[in-house]
Amino acid sequence: MTESDFEFLRGFLKQRSGLAMTAEKRYLVESRLGPVCRRFNLGDLHDLVAVLKLGRDAAAERAVVEAMTTNETFFFRDRVPFDLFRDVLLPQALQRNAGRRRLRIWCAAASTGQEPYSLAMLLQEAAPRLAGWQVEIVATDLSTEVIERARAGIYSHFEVQRGLPVQWLIKHFTQVGESWQISQSLRAMVDYRQLNLLNAFDGLGQFDVVYCRNVLIYFDAPTKADILNRIAACLAPEGALVLGAAETVIGLTDRLQPNPEHRGVYGHAAAGQRAAAAPLAAPLAAPAAMQARPPAPPVLAPASALAPLRAAAGR
Ligand SMILES: C[S@@+](CC[C@H](N)C(=O)[O-])C[C@H]1O[C@@H](n2cnc3c(N)ncnc32)[C@H](O)[C@@H]1O
Repeated sequence: MTESDFEFLRGFLKQRSGLAMTAEKRYLVESRLGPVCRRFNLGDLHDLVAVLKLGRDAAAERAVVEAMTTNETFFFRDRVPFDLFRDVLLPQALQRNAGRRRLRIWCAAASTGQEPYSLAMLLQEAAPRLAGWQVEIVATDLSTEVIERARAGIYSHFEVQRGLPVQWLIKHFTQVGESWQISQSLRAMVDYRQLNLLNAFDGLGQFDVVYCRNVLIYFDAPTKADILNRIAACLAPEGALVLGAAETVIGLTDRLQPNPEHRGVYGHAAAGQRAAAAPLAAPLAAPAAMQARPPAPPVLAPASALAPLRAAAGR
């Protein structure tokens, strides 16, 4: 790849997805865009760049952007953000919104759906507390490909082994050939939409809890700041923003500040001070399946190892 082709691709990706690519990512560009060249019958990256420069092939442009995104995710990723949701953020929101009985959650870079479905499972476990409530999970991502996968809710054996307690696999999934499909009732809880975080968030409305995890790391500081400011505008006055472990608002915006009690959780600057003074809402009882720690490392067990559990569950 020539220097000028690499520079063009850097600019193209920055503009289309926010991805800030350093010079040492050349190898990544080459390895991920090689298959795109083959898919579009192009000889090499130079030909692909020529197509992008013409600006007449929307499918090729989308394929380049999607090939360069990192979609890594898994159920209950990092665990703590989900324990916090169950034990702190959800009870607090239930207390705050008790009058209007409405709860809105946004997963802002949902990838293939494991994050919103993890929250949906926790909400389903809390169903007795949510009777009569209108609960919405909006899950968005730049990539239409991952959104389609998330909507289908079909996961490989490897994917359901990553972070998902086996009891919840049995309870919420059905085996379809070699794969597992999440229940229709959980799929119905999540409203998937394609959304580029670089674009306006018009029409999304206000959210009580926003999960925007492991996506800001790919952007430069001005892009992070812009996205955080616009998320702040969508966050309910006492709402909570949850970021990934390597992400923060510090030094990027003064509209949001860290929750002093819960690492990785952020709130409106003014609301944060109030929250620090207010007592925490009583935590919900932890669902039995979550009291037992989910299998920590993603160990791939043979499908046959699940047979006794499925038999016990009558499947
Ligand atoms: C590493 S995954 C994170 C998934 C999930 N939040 C988690 O933490 O497990 C990052 C996701 O961000 C999406 N993404 C990248 N750039 C984006 C943008 N500009 N707007 C919306 N989503 C974007 C990617 O398509 C990818 O699915």
